[in-house]
Amino acid sequence: MISDLTKLTLNRVPPAPSLQAFNAADELALQRLQQYSNAEGPWLLVNDAFGALATALSVKNLDWWNDSAMGREALDHNLAAHKAAAPRIIESPTELRDQYRLVILQAPKSLTLFEWQLSEIGKRLTPDGQCWVLGMVKHLSRGHQGVMQQYFSSVDPGLAVKKARCVTLADPVPKQAPISAQEYSIDGLTLVALPGCFSEAKPDPGALAFLAEFDQLPSVDRLVDLGCGNGVLALSYLRRHPTSQAILIDESLQATASAAASAERNGYPVQIHHANGLTRLGLSAIPLILCNPPFHQSTTLTTDIAHSLFKQAASALSAEGEFWVVGNRHLNYHKTLKRWFTRVTAVSQHPKFVVFRCTVPKP
Ligand SMILES: C[S@@+](CC[C@H](N)C(=O)[O-])C[C@H]1O[C@@H](n2cnc3c(N)ncnc32)[C@H](O)[C@@H]1O
Repeated sequence: MISDLTKLTLNRVPPAPSLQAFNAADELALQRLQQYSNAEGPWLLVNDAFGALATALSVKNLDWWNDSAMGREALDHNLAAHKAAAPRIIESPTELRDQYRLVILQAPKSLTLFEWQLSEIGKRLTPDGQCWVLGMVKHLSRGHQGVMQQYFSSVDPGLAVKKARCVTLADPVPKQAPISAQEYSIDGLTLVALPGCFSEAKPDPGALAFLAEFDQLPSVDRLVDLGCGNGVLALSYLRRHPTSQAILIDESLQATASAAASAERNGYPVQIHHANGLTRLGLSAIPLILCNPPFHQSTTLTTDIAHSLFKQAASALSAEGEFWVVGNRHLNYHKTLKRWFTRVTAVSQHPKFVVFRCTVPKP
């Protein structure tokens, strides 16, 4: 086991050389593990963003549960670069083992995702097992504290080191009510959102600004919803064009599961992919791509992912195809879109959001 993460060369996906692929809470957990006596597996890592802990630990009987396709790509890359043993990949709680002696979980931003994950972990600890919740002090909110106290009788916050904490949870509280998906109605559809899915409780204002322009969209036989979340854009399109074939893509498992549930709820057959953008899907000559791109990755604000999705959309589009994208006015997407498309037209008058129609992709 490696205790000093700075000794490893760890990459993020997408690559961001100026940003670390781990945080001080990961380092704190590795220091604590040096003195941890209950060292027998199985262990479980949850939300190990870029696989830093899995690469450093490289122990037997290690499971790895992460919602993100970008996280999975980073894990594969970092393991290969360090010739580290691969953990067992978990994509759904049904694949978790019955009992773990130690769970190390990076606290997610979404409280409902945190609650859902803790509820699944609480059922699966050995009697002497512990769950360590890692996070930077500024990201561990009162809400996170409340959830930990709801699911565990013993919550020891420990000392903050380098503005990070490793909270020790033990003695799970039994018999909690199951966490259910949220539902809301919009544009004649019922949308289902599982814990951690984007716009879980209500529609995103950017998506609403986009939907207001949907009557202007071309009628096509095939479309892609890139970064589909719960599927609001593709399903709203299908409501207007029910014979089209929709391909929905998201890098979050909770999003793709929500999109599948929403499609079923509204009776639309769709194709869904859990993937980091379009690059590995081999899609081409697409006549229409819709996108409400992300502007953050976990707690880091970034337009890098959006820019890379624009580039991917340009290469997957047919020569006459159209890429429609919504963005916050201040993000100034117009400039980046012009790098990949010959014609970029703003089609909305919304004060906060701009909807762009992009055509004639550049080779
Ligand atoms: C702003 S949300 C939009 C969701 C939904 N389309 C809507 O309008 O409510 C962006 C979505 O893109 C997804 N995403 C982020 N990076 C991605 C990537 N590299 N590939 C595919 N999806 C990605 C996020 O998980 C999130 O669901």
